[in-house]
Amino acid sequence: MLLGGRVAGPLVSLAGLLDEVHQARASIDQVGHVLNRPNERQALTTGLRPRFEGAIEFRDVTFRYEGAKTPALDKMNFKIPAGTMLGLVGRSGSGKSTITRLLQGINRDYVGSIRIDGTDMREINLRHIRKNFGMVLQDNFLFRGTVRDNIIAGRPGLSFEDAVRAARLAGAEEFIERLPNGYDTFIQEGSPNLSGGQKQRLAIARALISDPRVLILDEATSALDPESEALVNANIQRIAAGRTMVIVSHRLSSLLDCDLIMVLDQGKTMDIGPHKELVQRCAIYRHLWFQQNRHLAPEGFDDESSQPAIV
Ligand SMILES: Nc1ncnc2c1ncn2[C@@H]1O[C@H](COP(=O)(O)OP(=O)(O)O)[C@@H](O)[C@H]1O
Ligand SMILES: [Mg+2]
Repeated sequence: MLLGGRVAGPLVSLAGLLDEVHQARASIDQVGHVLNRPNERQALTTGLRPRFEGAIEFRDVTFRYEGAKTPALDKMNFKIPAGTMLGLVGRSGSGKSTITRLLQGINRDYVGSIRIDGTDMREINLRHIRKNFGMVLQDNFLFRGTVRDNIIAGRPGLSFEDAVRAARLAGAEEFIERLPNGYDTFIQEGSPNLSGGQKQRLAIARALISDPRVLILDEATSALDPESEALVNANIQRIAAGRTMVIVSHRLSSLLDCDLIMVLDQGKTMDIGPHKELVQRCAIYRHLWFQQNRHLAPEGFDDESSQPAIV
């Protein structure tokens, strides 16, 4: 027994060691993947810096993620004038988030052209684009610091007044003022002392503070309870004034106010139009709408029909 133990012990720890070696190797690969990417320095320092109006056009845009077999966007075409509130719907994996990533210049190796106010995006300075495009995701990171710091987020040249203005527009002022120290309230990492709706409104304030011409919300209200969602949505019309909005949501009811809604499927534009028209003419949209609003569904609407089920 004793001898056996003496022999087995090192073997077991050797196995453990091999495990760690594998993990370390995988981590190094991941870090290498990031470090080996061509850096963006050139795109960050060169290029045009136009005053944006916010018109967006995709012309035959095809984009494939590295190593993916099928393209995430497949000859996508659409065009919206400045100031449009555009909703994006489509089943998960249809390319909605990919559109928002291309719009911020995160992925730039696409085929076709993306035009902002008629100018090809590749000609525009990347930093300029990111400064003028605001983004709110489903889960936004609030760091350790005060409410005010979290809204300003380290951007130079922004004052406390700017933070207050952004918070007001985002509908966050109401709860910030009820916090024990108002804008100086300290937020812990992961922000356990704030509700989901409060976090999202802070994230929207953070995006709004630089008064972006284009604001992108990617499932920004999807993880919220209905009450917080309604609170955020109630401010959207106000937020949208004077800027282009791109709103991704799988809940169609939160897209009713959009000027245009684009229906995506497998990286293609299936249809684009206002809600009223889409309910009439787009089968995918109609199905999705009645699925989520059964009380409005016509006699004989069948959820299990051959229509493609989305979400
Ligand atoms: N980082 C990535 N690497 C490889 N494939 C990806 C990546 N992100 C998304 N995809 C793929 O691209 C397609 C579109 O994804 P996405 O735009 O995230 O869809 P959606 O936001 O509509 O759910 C999907 O097929 C998805 O699997
Ligand atoms: Mg997505």
